[in-house]
Amino acid sequence: MIRWLQKLYYPIQAGHYRLERHSMGLALGIIFAASIGGFVEIAPLFTIDETVESAPDMRVYTPLEQAGRDIYVREGCYLCHSQMIRTLADEVDRYGPYSLAVESQYDHPMLWGSKRTGPDLARLGGKYSDDWHVAHLIDPRAVVPKSVMPHYAFLADTPLETASLPARLAALRAVGVPYSDEMIENAARDALGQVRPDSDRGDEVLERYGDDTQIRNFDGDTQRLTEMDALVAYLQILGKLTDVAQVTESAAIEADMEAVQ
Ligand code: HEC
Repeated sequence: MIRWLQKLYYPIQAGHYRLERHSMGLALGIIFAASIGGFVEIAPLFTIDETVESAPDMRVYTPLEQAGRDIYVREGCYLCHSQMIRTLADEVDRYGPYSLAVESQYDHPMLWGSKRTGPDLARLGGKYSDDWHVAHLIDPRAVVPKSVMPHYAFLADTPLETASLPARLAALRAVGVPYSDEMIENAARDALGQVRPDSDRGDEVLERYGDDTQIRNFDGDTQRLTEMDALVAYLQILGKLTDVAQVTESAAIEADMEAVQ
């Protein structure tokens, strides 16, 4: 076996030796070797139209949810929490249907993350009550005694800055998020409207973002619009902008059942 390998190796070595002494030959050799790696990375993109699902029911983040997302980024929550459920059985058992590419189509920047000091949050929306989130963010140890998560109590005392929201939505439109002129113009008004149920402003949010939009006071303080309102509104919408993942999962289960029968 060793002999046989040696026989194969020596001519390759001799050829390589000759190649190394010709700069053009070596340059072409390097380009060829590097292009294999490049092709392997680019090839999946040729089939992107077939691999990325479409989600006609997908809606954009409301200004309040987007403000919450910006706070999530500012506070570095992504350093401990991922937002992507992989296609592994134990992850699906723990967190729910695996994440689909289309679910992140309006996420700039994406927050898939690469570190899980805490659990994945891709399908967090609706898992806990607003009160639970507020108590947890004010003092994680109050609800999960052994938690190592830092506390963010100041969010409940910090008024939400809304004046820059139209410009933030406009910037997102520039990179492909389909916000309308009306949504951009009314961004600051809608942020407040989302925590005022039974008001004209609340109704306007429903009109612009759809009837499933969650309109309520999120932080328990009805007097002020705080950063806590925004962050909890965002946490409660995670995984709920479209139900394409649930639909895809049940279709896959049905196909399995049919195959078994
Ligand atoms: C130092 C790492 C760390 C950072 C930073 C961090 N977390 Fe956590 N988080 C954890 C850990 C650990 C847990 C699990 C224990 C617990 O529930 O407190 C957790 C749990 C959670 C949960 C409960 C998830 C579930 O499914 O039970 C939520 C929601 C959450 N974090 C939100 C946030 C938000 C929002 C931020 C940023 C403002 C944040 N975390 C920042 C470590 C972190």
